[in-house]
Amino acid sequence: AAPPYVPALVVGTGYGAAVTALRLGAAGIKTTMIEMGQLWTTPGKDGKVFCSTLSPDRRSMWFNRKTKAPLDTFLWLDVVNRDIGTPYAGVLDRIDFPNMGVYVGRGVGGGSLVNGGMAPTPQRAYFEKMLPQVDADAMYKRYFPLARRMLGVNSIDPHYLEKTPIYKFARVSRRHAHQAGFKTTVIPNVYDFKYLQREEKKQVPRSALAGEVIYGNNHGKQSLDKTYLADALGTGNVTIRTLTRVTTIHQQGKGYLVGLEQIDAWGKVIRRSEISCGSLFLGAGSVGTTELLLRARETGTLPDLPAAIGAGWGTNGNVMTARANHLWDPTGSLQSTIPTLAIDNWNHPKYPSFAEIAPLPVGIETFASLYLAITVNPERGRFTYNHNTDRADLHWGAHQSTPSIRSAQFLFDKINKAIGTTYRRDLFTGNRAFAADFCYHPLGGALLGKATDNYGRVRNHPGLYVTDSSLIPGSLGVNPFVTITALAERNIAQVLASDLKRR
Ligand code: FDA
Repeated sequence: AAPPYVPALVVGTGYGAAVTALRLGAAGIKTTMIEMGQLWTTPGKDGKVFCSTLSPDRRSMWFNRKTKAPLDTFLWLDVVNRDIGTPYAGVLDRIDFPNMGVYVGRGVGGGSLVNGGMAPTPQRAYFEKMLPQVDADAMYKRYFPLARRMLGVNSIDPHYLEKTPIYKFARVSRRHAHQAGFKTTVIPNVYDFKYLQREEKKQVPRSALAGEVIYGNNHGKQSLDKTYLADALGTGNVTIRTLTRVTTIHQQGKGYLVGLEQIDAWGKVIRRSEISCGSLFLGAGSVGTTELLLRARETGTLPDLPAAIGAGWGTNGNVMTARANHLWDPTGSLQSTIPTLAIDNWNHPKYPSFAEIAPLPVGIETFASLYLAITVNPERGRFTYNHNTDRADLHWGAHQSTPSIRSAQFLFDKINKAIGTTYRRDLFTGNRAFAADFCYHPLGGALLGKATDNYGRVRNHPGLYVTDSSLIPGSLGVNPFVTITALAERNIAQVLASDLKRR
């Protein structure tokens, strides 16, 4: 029998995919979304959908026997990562390449299920530098405000921030930054801060105050399943298939034929099939989308895909570090997992950085100040297709992380000097003070204006689109999901108006 046909197929359910599906559905176009992860709505034996960072179980990681948290050790002890039993379709994945581990979310909602919810908008001047071909006026007047509204972005009540014990860690780091002469800023979030205040008063079940974040939040966070995807399903034109991975893409007439592999939650392949579509939108994330396109080009199913695919990948300059505070500077034993302040040294001419003040929510006093810094790192990685493994390989040399470390070190050396403190060397293997060998913000691989036109249309391939973080050239200067969302809104508006209006 001929494979089933849908007018529009969207790969993935992260930010780019969710925006695209909602706008297609709202325009009356029947759309199917394909997601390799699970729909996270069914509680486990403990009555919870997600597990916490303090007692992770099989739900935490995508097919692993042990967790792979960003911190390796605590006081040099192997107490951070835990055995989690039989490999399972858990919610957080870490894709390990030589010299670089890339964290991604797996499930309906993609990265929104596991991220810290920080929702800043990039500085306009830097956005214009990174994406000069995009009309910044339209972005800053129309699409950024639209994205923030749709995502449910809110900010902490400033009075609450000043007094609550759950942000003592943030206030301590802020004071240290100010003493060293640096500015700080409040970062908006999609976690509902009103809910958080009620958590502290024990009026509602705890999530940010129960160590929940990178393995999912059971409450409080307005992840995509509660915003864009709920609205997309509400149009009546969008359906989502879960635990199904897109494997191949072929041209078929004026549309595309897509290979699918469906698994059960323990990884057993239960069905291989095909689906054909008129328009195909790739929203599988920076690594996922790039891999699908490279495989199609290199195995000859879409041999005319542009040579630019695979190039221009970056880490958004991510680097993690921690400082050891004095004993008279405790950071608090109850910490919110949701960050809310950052040190803003972005305008430094040589060593720009935007360093989020991160919690270390382990339930005891640690006297530690933890940071995830976003820096300018001009280095770019490149993906190639590996015929033996059928996967994309990332080429990123260890030395390519050095610029990120330098910028962070410039900032934190100054803070340590002003406060008389030192780095914590017990958290990352090898007594390192800085970890720039993993990233939360993979960007690039199918760049806007290079692999695609200025609206995400893949060159020489009518009906094939890229919608996600792979469009962005390696760096944004702030956490990326608001920008990914706003860019997807802009692109699909154009595509609906000009390519799909007569379907
Ligand atoms: P995204 O990665 O969200 O979604 C891709 C989806 O496609 C996934 O659900 C995946 O399972 C699916 N998929 C992939 N390949 C597939 C295939 N072949 N077939 C079917 N499905 C496939 N950002 C931010 O702005 N603020 C923050 O606070 C944070 N914090 C943070 C913490 C952690 C732990 C992580 C991992 C990430 C963040 N981020 C973040 C980053 C942010 O989450 C990330 O930039 C976006 O999720 C990327 O959105 P995309 O739309 O590109 O894809």
